[in-house]
Amino acid sequence: MYYPDELIEEVRMKNDIVDVISGYVRLQKKGANYFGLCPFHNEKSPSFSVSPGKQMYYCFGCGAGGNVYTFIQEYENYTFPEAVKMLADRAGVNLPEIEYSEEARKAESKRSKLLEINREAAKYFYFQLRAKQGEIGYNYLRNRELTDETIKKFGLGFANKTSNDLVQYLRSKGYSQELIHEAGLCNVDEKHGMYDKFWNRVIFPIEDINHRVIGFGGRVMGDGTPKYLNSPETPVFDKSRNLYGLNFARTSRKGNIILCEGYMDVIAMHQAGFDQAVASLGTAFTIGQASLLKRYAKEVLLSYDSDGAGVKAALRAIGILKEAGLTGKVINLEPYKDPDEFMKNLGKEAFQERIDHAENSFLFEIRMLEKEFNLSDPEDKTKFHREIARKLCEFSEEVERENYIEAVAEKYHIGFENLRRLVGNTAAKTGLAKPVERPKSGIQKKTTPEENSRRTQRLLLTWLVEEPQVYPKISRFLSAEDFTEELYVRVAERLFAGLEKGELNAASIISLFPDEEEQREVASLFNTKLLEPETLQEKEKAFHDILVSVKRISYEYNTSRLGTDVEALNRVIEGKKALEELSKTHISLN
Ligand code: UTP
Ligand code: MN
Repeated sequence: MYYPDELIEEVRMKNDIVDVISGYVRLQKKGANYFGLCPFHNEKSPSFSVSPGKQMYYCFGCGAGGNVYTFIQEYENYTFPEAVKMLADRAGVNLPEIEYSEEARKAESKRSKLLEINREAAKYFYFQLRAKQGEIGYNYLRNRELTDETIKKFGLGFANKTSNDLVQYLRSKGYSQELIHEAGLCNVDEKHGMYDKFWNRVIFPIEDINHRVIGFGGRVMGDGTPKYLNSPETPVFDKSRNLYGLNFARTSRKGNIILCEGYMDVIAMHQAGFDQAVASLGTAFTIGQASLLKRYAKEVLLSYDSDGAGVKAALRAIGILKEAGLTGKVINLEPYKDPDEFMKNLGKEAFQERIDHAENSFLFEIRMLEKEFNLSDPEDKTKFHREIARKLCEFSEEVERENYIEAVAEKYHIGFENLRRLVGNTAAKTGLAKPVERPKSGIQKKTTPEENSRRTQRLLLTWLVEEPQVYPKISRFLSAEDFTEELYVRVAERLFAGLEKGELNAASIISLFPDEEEQREVASLFNTKLLEPETLQEKEKAFHDILVSVKRISYEYNTSRLGTDVEALNRVIEGKKALEELSKTHISLN
């Protein structure tokens, strides 16, 4: 972090979170907190809460949460230093010039080192694209009709044919071999030693939502294989939780997201003004990516290749979108293969028309299903209708099901009453009438025992933040090491250190995590929904139960690590004692 912690705290404290958020969201007071419509996902009833006491916000619908800095970063699409700057200006605090001292550099974590080396590599590739030896790459991009402005916006670059100039360059800049390797920028083998992973390729830097370079994709010049080579996963590059182009698409005002297959598709779309386009990163679309998209739009339009593989991928993606509670539609690109080709031939107005007429994902599924049957054969045709009926059973809500029966009946010339009866019979026979419940909000993962135990730990942290006066009564039973998740331990250490001094520092803890995803997770530790017991007695029992559960979870966790962790035995013995004592102790909450 570039500014001293005290200064970051001062700025935070001078910007009351309710004041700041009121400038963006209409808030209404309810009890101790304020509520409003969440600005990070679409909703009709308010689940977005702002707590003046905790100086935090949290959305019970989509899980967005954090302190006043997180809010500004998420809403304004600012980096952390930018958010600090804006809030400092707002509160009239003077900031020193940012200094990148040697010392600050050393203090930076592994993650920032990886981000830094990625940035450096991206700069190197970018420079190569403009040099003589990069001409072939530059010409390739220009041939694909990208403008200089687009090439610059996406930071496109080139990796030379020589096979270790990037490694040499990074070494000369003082980066260690280990770091270069860990960033996925080189390969190592006995015969060649250490050499560049990417060579003879146009480079697409992959950025996270804060415009930080987290990995690379490279397209080979000519017909080599693989056509696209991608960075491996690294501590900063989680392929299932990032999307290419989302750093730009997140501030699009189009109201939907267009999901494409490839880098070039995304770039061509943005160049044509479709700034809501994103693509998964050389891997299949995942549920993690779907829930990420859910923060920005409710409707996702699929713009996959129109070939067999593309259709298969689209059908898979439709299932994932459904699971995430998103509406999916499919853009028809025929007769062209992909959006890039489509726009080159028919232009962006025609593409906009295809967007406007994107097909409902269910009707798309049925249309694809149709291709598997020979409808001039009565037997096959009957099978097709049965299959349709089976799929229609998946709608649990009657109105929705009726609407789909009507739409399908009309489209495939089946009598409405006949199809409806068939659906009824199918449901009765297969017991499919009550199929998978669609999650109402958020991703409802199956609750595993691990998730249950994490939830219990979050409950305890939330409780301590809501009622910090309880802490002295239980501090002798509890330590930060009792938590089983690394992040929870880090948060608990800081929280307890503050509580020892009688300070509640929950909001300031959030600023210690530079990553928005982590900030959001930390906020969730302090915002788990507590039960609201009626009587004091019930409340004391609930609290006692939670505390005992956390100690038991800790005890079991340490027991399972006996043998691998020398400290575990001590903790097991202590944990057993604490559990016994705790079960006999009454903790009063008034
Ligand atoms: P395509 O082969 O459709 O790429 O793969 P494209 O964008 O149309 O390629 P051009 O137009 O010929 O350059 C779509 C996406 O699948 C991933 C890449 O992310 C690519 O953008 N892919 C494809 C790979 O990761 N590796 C491959 O070998 C091929
Ligand atoms: Mn393609």
